[in-house]
Amino acid sequence: MKKLQFGSQCVRAARDTKTTRPHQLPIYATSSFAFEDLPEGMAVFSGEQQGHLYSRFGNPTIDAVTEKVAQLEMHGSSEAGRGLFCSSGMSAISTLCLGLLQPGDAILTQPNLYGGTNELFQKVLQPLGFRVVMADLSDLNAVAETLAQHPAIRMVYFETPANPTLSCVDIEALSNLAHAQGALSVADNTFATPYLQQPLLLGADYVVHSTTKYLNGHGNSTAGAIVGKDLEAMQERVFPALKLLGTNGSPFEAWLLNNGMKTLELRMERHCKNAAKVAKWLIQQPQVSRVNYPGLPDHPDHQLASRQMRHFGGMVSFELKGGLDAGRQFVEGLELCTLAPTMGDVDTLIMHPATMSHLKVPVEQRLAAGISDGLIRLSVGIENIEDIRSDLEKGMAAIKSER
Ligand SMILES: Cc1ncc(COP(=O)(O)O)c(C=O)c1O
Repeated sequence: MKKLQFGSQCVRAARDTKTTRPHQLPIYATSSFAFEDLPEGMAVFSGEQQGHLYSRFGNPTIDAVTEKVAQLEMHGSSEAGRGLFCSSGMSAISTLCLGLLQPGDAILTQPNLYGGTNELFQKVLQPLGFRVVMADLSDLNAVAETLAQHPAIRMVYFETPANPTLSCVDIEALSNLAHAQGALSVADNTFATPYLQQPLLLGADYVVHSTTKYLNGHGNSTAGAIVGKDLEAMQERVFPALKLLGTNGSPFEAWLLNNGMKTLELRMERHCKNAAKVAKWLIQQPQVSRVNYPGLPDHPDHQLASRQMRHFGGMVSFELKGGLDAGRQFVEGLELCTLAPTMGDVDTLIMHPATMSHLKVPVEQRLAAGISDGLIRLSVGIENIEDIRSDLEKGMAAIKSER
């Protein structure tokens, strides 16, 4: 090529030296991929040759990370899963529903879902013609009856453990009931992660994640993932929904997720150990009327959680006897725990749903979903347990001192 003018040199001169293999996954911050020549472009476009075209359709950083999420969800199985990376947990859920369902189809789900998912179903999907049927998914007879009454149900969608009440549902039994009616079974595995629970190996067809939470683990990224076992449906239905809705995540967020996932097992082990200790401590506190943690032997879902989870997770919620005032005083008395509306990060996070996430939810509706005035949600971090406990003691003392 002839010597370029200064301005052209500014635009062009940045050679990818592509020497030795990078030790760490690089961030492919490129919106598209260039071809050596026209035949190569045609071969990649036609699918004859493997390659990337445009980052909304696929990108090496994203592909490496989604493959890893799929491998973790399918770990121990001889089958392969396919992963897709989305811009948030909500984008993963909406992409999956829009890819798999048609208007007129119904989703069977539970009332105690993450609030955003509930709103997506009610405020976005329902007006588009998708139907939403609610049932107590822990009551398998009620589920069977509901399925029989609503032949339009094409998807059974659940969270286990659920946000913020930590109730669990039987993944295998729900998947069997869904399949008997020709419906799909979808698990939101955000709370458990594939280290603690593998819904796809228990019979679910799809898993969704808010990777914003435990999978990333460091609170520095918002993203989501879908993993499916039906490779054809993933390619023919779910991937086109992601590609055409443009719900893909960015290479940078994928790179952050990859870094976070390197320590997933170590973090989850510590989260679970700390949460179990916090739950045991909480039940002894006179200000606490109830502790929701599936690891406690008298928790109604303890047997079920013991069967389908490796450990019981890092999330604990509990009710303060003093209701709204006690909730406020407790939270204001804390110094170490971070007051933030997220979960699954390395630091201990606290949320008072009645004054935070559910402030605008009508009181009757909030109470019906099991979220009382004094309910506190704790995402127990990986700090030293003594420090977490002494901070919680400070919170409890702040309630006492006000009385
Ligand atoms: C269980 C669960 N699923 C999905 C979501 C949505 O994820 P995101 O905020 O990444 O869109 C959340 C968010 O808190 C959640 O808790």
